[in-house]
Amino acid sequence: MPFKLRAAQPQHSAGNRTLAVRRPGGDAAAVLIRPLEAADAPELAALRKRNHAFLAPFEPYRAEGFASEAGQAAWLESGGGIRFAIVDDGAIAGTISLSDIVRGPLQRASVGYWVAEEHNGRGLASRALADLVEYSFGELELHRLEAGTMLDNAGSQRVLRRNGFTEIGVSRQHLLIAGAWRDHLLFERVA
Ligand SMILES: CC(C)(COP(=O)(O)OP(=O)(O)OC[C@H]1O[C@@H](n2cnc3c(N)ncnc32)[C@H](O)[C@@H]1OP(=O)(O)O)[C@@H](O)C(=O)NCCC(=O)NCCS
Repeated sequence: MPFKLRAAQPQHSAGNRTLAVRRPGGDAAAVLIRPLEAADAPELAALRKRNHAFLAPFEPYRAEGFASEAGQAAWLESGGGIRFAIVDDGAIAGTISLSDIVRGPLQRASVGYWVAEEHNGRGLASRALADLVEYSFGELELHRLEAGTMLDNAGSQRVLRRNGFTEIGVSRQHLLIAGAWRDHLLFERVA
């Protein structure tokens, strides 16, 4: 099998690496995913505030104040997983992250993402996920990525399917979202 098992737990840091996501037609790489930094907290908090109503139906349970500037700074400093900004013409348009990274014989991670309403429908999530997949199976040498969407989240399911993710099945009462345990359709992609 052409994969390597890492003996030690790796540093889950993307460093200063910037990943270009090209627009169709080969235009200059105006859309990027890049590692989020502590200095992004104010812009991220402002974007979340503008998109509160849009994101609320999809938000997993969060601690009080998570979306505030201080909350975003604390989230960025907490260092769990690998978090990227989805950048559109120099502005943060959303985030895409790897979490629950497990090495050893699993070599897997969970993918999560969101794109602000005003940036929707332009292929940002799809292109960001394409880059994250390449990074995960390339530099990180992961073997499996998983993601879950609510059953009626057709937009996110489209993003996953067009990136080669296939359905595992329905996980009942999978995640506490907007105050209710919601069933999720789970997806996987293997390297
Ligand atoms: C889901 C989300 C990430 C999509 O972001 P985006 O940048 O607009 O995604 P893309 O433009 O790359 O692709 C979206 C695709 O879904 C399609 N789509 C969107 N809403 C749809 C719907 N209700 N029914 C069917 N297709 C839908 C779009 O038409 C597009 O497909 P196309 O390019 O073939 O036309 C964004 O809407 C979002 O952040 N939503 C709220 C949070 C969320 O759902 N996060 C994911 C949790 S699993």
